Amino acid sequence: MVIRVQESTVRTPWNQSLIKAHETHLRTTLAELVSSEVIVRKIVQSLIRYGIAFIDDVPPNTTMTEMAVRRLFPPMKTFFGEMYTFSDVQDHADTAYTKQYLGLHTDNTYFCDAAGLQSLHCIRHVNGAGGENFFADGLYAALELKHCNPRAFEILTRVSVPAEYIEEGQYHKHSAPIIRVDPVSGEIVQLRLNVYDRAVFDSIPQAQMQDFYESFRVYLEIVQRIENQWSFKLNPGTVVIFDNWRVYHGRHAYTGSRTMTGCYVQRTDFLSKARILGIID
Ligand SMILES: [Fe+2]
Repeated sequence: MVIRVQESTVRTPWNQSLIKAHETHLRTTLAELVSSEVIVRKIVQSLIRYGIAFIDDVPPNTTMTEMAVRRLFPPMKTFFGEMYTFSDVQDHADTAYTKQYLGLHTDNTYFCDAAGLQSLHCIRHVNGAGGENFFADGLYAALELKHCNPRAFEILTRVSVPAEYIEEGQYHKHSAPIIRVDPVSGEIVQLRLNVYDRAVFDSIPQAQMQDFYESFRVYLEIVQRIENQWSFKLNPGTVVIFDNWRVYHGRHAYTGSRTMTGCYVQRTDFLSKARILGIID
């Protein structure tokens, strides 16, 4: 008999106390990464299991960040580029390109196929403070919702929520549920959450709006609980990689001048690597 290892069976939902207790599993250095296949496997395993991993001691520039990520996965090319670098200079009509507070979200809800992973590296922050990032495990929150309010969970798996992104030469639009469940296995396969990219909500009749928003409010209350969030300052030298189909990210407002670099990774390239390494089937 062939025993198949589904991605979901190796996932560990986490809240703040659990992820902090497992932090050593999530961290490696660039020197270890470039010299060891075991470390490559460790990072991919952390990304499958917890949806987040860190590479420390990376020189704070785009070239070395790209080298670190390419050791694991090819960057995904979008209209932001392959490697992207952003500050508060508004090169794109995206909220990331500001100094504002950004609540927990996933990226690319407007793409037909949202990036599977995202990497971020703060390569410079001078003359100011703030900008701490915070992360929350959407898998944990969705399972909590399913347990305590099955009706709200069902509504969020069924209602398609439209999102769009418009700038000069670009018009991306996609509609899908906030919690996407595999119709056969019932497993949670993708979480989508971005109030900044919402489009005209024309996918359900007006009469169903109240139920949707009540369910959404209950879910957001779980997602935003302080005990479910992991908050820290990303300093130059540390690359964080996280699952954009699972882990919500946000950041506090900041002052001064800050530059972030990073890239997206396609879901299929992430899972391909995990299969090659024997982590999932
Ligand atoms: Fe984002």
